[in-house]
Amino acid sequence: MREQLLAAEKVKAIEWRDGRLYLLDQRVLPFEELWLAYESAAEVASAIKSMVVRGAPAIGISAAYGVVLSARQRIQEGGDWRAALESDFQVLADSRPTAVNLFWALNRMRDRLARLKPQDDVLAVLETEALGIHESDREANLTMAQLGVDLIRKHQGNLQNLLTHCNTGALATGGFGTALGVIRAAYLDGLVERVYADETRPWLQGSRLTAWELANEGIPVSLNADSAAAHLMKTRGITWVIVGADRITANGDVANKIGTYQLAVNAMHHGVRFMVVAPSSTIDMDLESGEDIPIEERDGSELLEVAGKRVAAGVDAVNPVFDVTPADLIDFIVTEKGVVERPDLAKMTQLMCRKRLH
Ligand code: MRU
Repeated sequence: MREQLLAAEKVKAIEWRDGRLYLLDQRVLPFEELWLAYESAAEVASAIKSMVVRGAPAIGISAAYGVVLSARQRIQEGGDWRAALESDFQVLADSRPTAVNLFWALNRMRDRLARLKPQDDVLAVLETEALGIHESDREANLTMAQLGVDLIRKHQGNLQNLLTHCNTGALATGGFGTALGVIRAAYLDGLVERVYADETRPWLQGSRLTAWELANEGIPVSLNADSAAAHLMKTRGITWVIVGADRITANGDVANKIGTYQLAVNAMHHGVRFMVVAPSSTIDMDLESGEDIPIEERDGSELLEVAGKRVAAGVDAVNPVFDVTPADLIDFIVTEKGVVERPDLAKMTQLMCRKRLH
């Protein structure tokens, strides 16, 4: 399976080349494949904020490279480069609030910096750390894909109709994808009849990105309005909802793209299994429950306008872009450390004590 998965890896969103960060601009997909180059932490932070790069693991990886760019710039400028670097850490941390992978990656870079020895080449050490974060996310995707497929096979061995939300594929990660990685692997294993992709209002990650990734690989996919999901569960024989996560708290609550919570409620009502796929870098054991997760609110224009054209008059819009699915609506959390069934504090604690499976 691993070899098959690697052979199917076609799209990527992040590249580190010759000391520069290149990001595939996700704002203009699927109609344009535009790569943008970045040379400073402030530029990377602005790319994260404006959604050039998005998806929890992908923003963590980009921020790690942002730290390398910052270190190079600050050392070249001379003076107290460590203080200047620390202010760039803050600029990167302020880019988006919900996905904990961002803070996890920055903490890893900060820890590595703290362990530098006097003889170390600072830039080489930081670059190796960022590349390591990127590569280990890719590896985690492969492990999770296998674990997710094993679950699908175990619970329903024949052809499945799957429903997913947002974009959790190669564009959102360092490799193959989390939820979309499981879906890809299930397709390669002959388990998928059709994937239903929620369009994911208002930013349209489903229409613009997920449908594009799946269609590119010839995986049968139909796009649906978010509000069609319950109807599809009732009428189209959907057996699994498979989604990613931006932050999972110690009790197993899951923050993910707005609309995930209502999918979980509907899945429970219709007897559809609900799987969350996320690397352990998405798990925040410092937060007790989902109530503590900061939920990003984006500009109302994302709702008030469609393709730059105003579609609502004389109103304000409220635009929370994530919601929290309570642990008791979740059947499985799949990570690279293993699978948690019906998550709770004890099971999450046990999971986090384990080593990675690969
Ligand atoms: O606002 P976005 O596009 O960054 O939100 C992304 C999601 O909610 C994804 O489902 C999540 O990050 C998991 S990506 C592997």
